[in-house]
Amino acid sequence: MLVEHFHNTHKSAGSYPERLQSILRLKDAEIAFNEISTWPSYEQTPLVSLNKIAAKIGIKEIYYKDESSRFGLGSFKALGGTYGVLRFIKDALEEEFGKTVAIEDIRSGKYSNNISKYTVTTATDGNHGRSVAFGAKLFGCKCQIYIHSEVSQGRHDAIENLDARVVRVDGNYDKSVEICKKESKLNNWQVISDTSYSGYTKYPRYIMAGYNVMAEEITNQMGKKSMPTHIFLQGGVGSFPGAICGYFWEKFNNQNLKIVVVESEHAPCLIKSAQKNKITSVPVETETIMAGLSCGEPSLLGWEILSSGADDFITISDDLIPSVMRFLSKNSPYIEAGESSVAGLAGLIEIMKNQKVAKNIGLGSDSIVLLFGTEGATDPEIYNSIINT
Ligand SMILES: Cc1ncc(COP(=O)(O)O)c(C=O)c1O
Repeated sequence: MLVEHFHNTHKSAGSYPERLQSILRLKDAEIAFNEISTWPSYEQTPLVSLNKIAAKIGIKEIYYKDESSRFGLGSFKALGGTYGVLRFIKDALEEEFGKTVAIEDIRSGKYSNNISKYTVTTATDGNHGRSVAFGAKLFGCKCQIYIHSEVSQGRHDAIENLDARVVRVDGNYDKSVEICKKESKLNNWQVISDTSYSGYTKYPRYIMAGYNVMAEEITNQMGKKSMPTHIFLQGGVGSFPGAICGYFWEKFNNQNLKIVVVESEHAPCLIKSAQKNKITSVPVETETIMAGLSCGEPSLLGWEILSSGADDFITISDDLIPSVMRFLSKNSPYIEAGESSVAGLAGLIEIMKNQKVAKNIGLGSDSIVLLFGTEGATDPEIYNSIINT
């Protein structure tokens, strides 16, 4: 069910403003792309046409950026946390040696003794922690990850398999953030968080730039194809939708492109912020099946961009998710799409059943929608239990 729709009357009509360029610029995406594309297992992820679904729901085309294979970690998050860890290591070495350190020297192992003494940490509902642990392993520092009580054992194990120490906190995601902050301060560890808050924005900025490797790839993959008219972005804290929104806003201007943010009805912090025109937290009382979207506190930087860059916000119910996952796994082209991955598609399908909302969002037979399949089977046990019922 489409639970709520809110049209953002504060969307800016102009070009990408200077005040947002201090958060994220195209140049940051380019720098991230030039670095990340040199990593050993880097491969561009596919941009798949879902033209049969598009025809069925009455729009022109759907493009789906399939992140299920990203760095073997199964989600787009592998681009952000890993890059954040690398940028921290560079900063820490520069402070230690009092000189500029080249990233190639970090990659080549020149500083491995020094790096092995650093510890990175984060709170996570799974995917981001896995990415930070992957970065720590790739570049050779220590890693401690905090998960909340509802994070599945499969996601716990996936992080541990990357040699990180995992601490399970009694409480929800926001509680795990709080404990992580406290313990990192006590131990002088570096938090590499995918969410930003007052006084903590440096690494979330790099993480957002890392996410925009997807946008760089899409720009290349689209080639001469018509650009999308709409982009659907599923939001947790809002760093991912904020990053992608900022990229396309700066690159193509906002005029002919609509950004739609999709959230779970159980974690609606971005739509609530839009409704109040002010960053707003909500308590997460029920965990959504879309585990990656279960966040009650918006990221400061993500919200800054979305508040004037997004056109519409919607929330959806959990019951939509399993059937869309099953459909993608049982039809051609085969797509392994995890619970948070299909939120955009599920939201789009629901909107197209409600012509009043579709019209309001400007969706019709000429629309070309870009979706992000943000994860594959990041917890294989949960994934299989859903697609096999
Ligand atoms: C698979 C997946 N999709 C989307 C998101 C949303 O990203 P953000 O929290 O930056 O809004 C997440 C966040 O963890 C995620 O894991």
